[in-house]
Amino acid sequence: MEHKKIVYVVVVVIILFSVLFLYEPIEKRKKAEYSGEVIKLPEPRLKGEMSVEEAIARRRSIRAYKNEPLTLEELSQLLWASQGITEEKRKFRSAPSAGATYPFEIYIVVGNVEGVKAGIYHYDPFEHTIALIEEGDFRKALQKAALDQEWVGKAAVDIILVAFYERTTNYYGERGYRYVHMEAGHIGENIYLEATALGLGTVAVGAFHDEQVAEVIGTDGVPLYIFPVGHVR
Ligand SMILES: Cc1cc2nc3c(=O)[nH]c(=O)nc-3n(C[C@H](O)[C@H](O)[C@H](O)COP(=O)(O)O)c2cc1C
Repeated sequence: MEHKKIVYVVVVVIILFSVLFLYEPIEKRKKAEYSGEVIKLPEPRLKGEMSVEEAIARRRSIRAYKNEPLTLEELSQLLWASQGITEEKRKFRSAPSAGATYPFEIYIVVGNVEGVKAGIYHYDPFEHTIALIEEGDFRKALQKAALDQEWVGKAAVDIILVAFYERTTNYYGERGYRYVHMEAGHIGENIYLEATALGLGTVAVGAFHDEQVAEVIGTDGVPLYIFPVGHVR
């Protein structure tokens, strides 16, 4: 009886420890450090004009954009929908993640956003800020890396989902790879629906040269998706 009790206590302690370890706030992870300018994004709006059902029904891949700027509010909504913090306590995010391992970093190539100079930026979900990595218009370079798909070069902003597989494979081994790909889908759909709800257009771009895209934005991770966003033409 005593022996059974000890085994029970040990099992409970192990389970508690693993749960706590798995859900450790991601804040402790190394954050990208940039010397460049940091822009605080407006607080995301949690109520919009369009229902989720309408956004699902209206969502389409849009590849033709006007040469019109996005507002900072619109950029804020899109980034929040992609990876924003939706539960402060545990730092959980807008899209689900296997074991809350959050393998993605979001980069943006800004071309035409009000009050934001053109450049490559990294999104920090914890602070809801973007940090400038390199100033300049990199949309055409990104378009070239994406098999010359012109919507990548014409978008007001390109949102790039960059995977750091080891965050998930360290916990789940080989199976972690499939989890990361599943998660790209969750994030991507959030971007699609948010863009639709804002009356903007986007398209999931998966066809590109990984190394070239990584080189343009200057990342060690693996780019899995580009979402060009702009006003629908
Ligand atoms: C994994 C994946 C990769 C895609 N890659 C591209 C791409 O490189 N370029 C592009 O123009 N569209 C791309 N698309 C968008 C599809 O062409 C589009 O979803 C499909 O034609 C259906 O249209 P809908 O999104 O309007 O429903 C991709 C979609 C997915 C899911």
